[in-house]
Amino acid sequence: MKGKKILSGLMGAVMLCTAMVPSFTGSIPAEAAAEAVSIYSTGFEDGDVSGFIGRSGNETITATTEQAYSGSQSMCIGGRTSGWHGAKISLSERGQAGVEYSVSAMVKSKWYSTISMTLEYYDSTGTQKYTPLGSVSGDGWMEFSDVKITFTSDMTDVYVYFESSDAQVDIYVDDFSLESAAVYDIEEDIKSLKDVYADYFKIGGAVTASELAPQTAQDLILKHYNSLTPGNEMKPDALLDYNATIATGSNVDPQVNLASARSILNFCRDNNIPVRGHVLVWHQQTPDWFFREDYQEGGTWASEEVMLQRMENYIKNVFAALEEEYPTVNFYAYDVVNECYLDDGSARQPGANDGSQQTSPWVQIFGDNSFIEHAFRFAREYAPEGCKLYYNDFNEYQPGKTQAMYDMAMDLKEKGLIDGIGMQSHLDVGFPTVSAYEKALEKFASTGLDIQVTELDITTTDTSEAGFEKQAEIYSGIMDACVKYADSISAVVFWGTTDDKSWRAAKCPLLFNGDYSAKPAYYAIIDGIESTGTTTTTTTTTTTTTTTAAAYVPGDVNYDGRLNVFDLAQLKMDIHQPWPAVYPIDIPQDYNQDGSFNMTDIVAFAKFLVGAK
Ligand code: XIL
Repeated sequence: MKGKKILSGLMGAVMLCTAMVPSFTGSIPAEAAAEAVSIYSTGFEDGDVSGFIGRSGNETITATTEQAYSGSQSMCIGGRTSGWHGAKISLSERGQAGVEYSVSAMVKSKWYSTISMTLEYYDSTGTQKYTPLGSVSGDGWMEFSDVKITFTSDMTDVYVYFESSDAQVDIYVDDFSLESAAVYDIEEDIKSLKDVYADYFKIGGAVTASELAPQTAQDLILKHYNSLTPGNEMKPDALLDYNATIATGSNVDPQVNLASARSILNFCRDNNIPVRGHVLVWHQQTPDWFFREDYQEGGTWASEEVMLQRMENYIKNVFAALEEEYPTVNFYAYDVVNECYLDDGSARQPGANDGSQQTSPWVQIFGDNSFIEHAFRFAREYAPEGCKLYYNDFNEYQPGKTQAMYDMAMDLKEKGLIDGIGMQSHLDVGFPTVSAYEKALEKFASTGLDIQVTELDITTTDTSEAGFEKQAEIYSGIMDACVKYADSISAVVFWGTTDDKSWRAAKCPLLFNGDYSAKPAYYAIIDGIESTGTTTTTTTTTTTTTTTAAAYVPGDVNYDGRLNVFDLAQLKMDIHQPWPAVYPIDIPQDYNQDGSFNMTDIVAFAKFLVGAK
């Protein structure tokens, strides 16, 4: 039987989630294994600044009484003559891989200069990499609060540093603290999402290498997801190896290196988790040099002919490397092309990838979106058997874009090149409506192609209890729609694990809090969903006993054991939800138990409450 869920009775601790500086003011679950432990904390009152060293070697790093956020001293980073000049502190000397750390500091500079905090390290290929941890600008002392960092065992010389794009200014730092973050356990006693949805589709998540490093994150993934998408580690900028490419002496044979993706792919291999590859051809997160003649960053654009060969060889090399290094991993789905359309369905403008989202080097070189078909042709040729090929996009529910994606997908379907459509589904509680989203689902389902919801997250700026319940309601509506179209959907993937690690952390868009506890959204999407994997339904040869039927009283929609006006109010709210019209209804909302939930239930229930016949 197809499932359905009930919106009432949302549970779960609501925690406060703030911008880039996650702080958790809610109660910590009982399972929390350890408190935060201070590793290096100083207000520089003793004049000791030896924990920090200059980035260039030319900086002067001193304790000073000129400025202080607390006490009478701070650390001054002076003598700067370039934006990148600053002070760094070693993390790898003080900590260990796989442990989550938390960094806090007060910083100050010239009025409105921007101060950034960044993680710097060498990856396993010996390439120096930088991960932004946040930046602040304003008047007076500003705070980096509880910024979480985890480094992996293949990262060396790991530092956190402060710098300012304003080259000449001094930077002051006070109340610096490096702690190992509190260690949490996952909630073992809640239902597994992948089990709950086992009859419908896979439940997946995206994860970055550092997000996956803590054991608790791994536990969460193992419990809830049966599909994993590397969040950044298989994008062209992560896989393309510039030095190896130049070393070939060829202008058309881009080389790839799986180093960035290794910790995630090892985890998938060791735990048998199917992987969604993301992504082969995209205007973003693809280095500029890839598109240029002789691989000269900022140089002349490569010709269409050269780019076609590079595209083919890149795709071929990616699949060859995956086959060689991960022969046992099931790359069951792959985003071949990402984000080619603007909301009105037109192609992007020609131009460099300038971060504006309007321009695309692919369009610059091909003149239009004709490169999409080439990419699918090459992917079809080189992808392993069983690896389904998707076109993936965001704002896919905007009618112009829906239509453009539909037309392109139908064309490629006829040519046998595409298997599915990826609906990214980066949503907000205010937009789009569930019914607008469902319209796009319906249109994509009508192609007869497979659909995957590839990057689901739903932002909210209201982080009060009511705000998270509203978010839960929207999540519930979206998952209802997915269940309704389950015959066309093979996976629903959340874009991340916990709110604090999300790419949109400031708006808490996911199902789990930073302490790994489940949010109301989690409870809303498992509520009422039935799957044979965890069924409460027992079938015998002579009778069918549905234990859920006895588990509710018709009309008691908030499950408090009483029938009153609160149930009526909830009923009136629930009637606006997109209830699955075509599936048997077995819920307390169906007050008159006629197999459907509609106005007659509300009228009958209201009459019952006032004692009318
Ligand atoms: C995002 C990642 O989550 C961020 O860490 C990164 O800084 C930017 O990209 N659509 C996509 C994903 O297809 O690749 C994007 O991922 C989110 C939007």
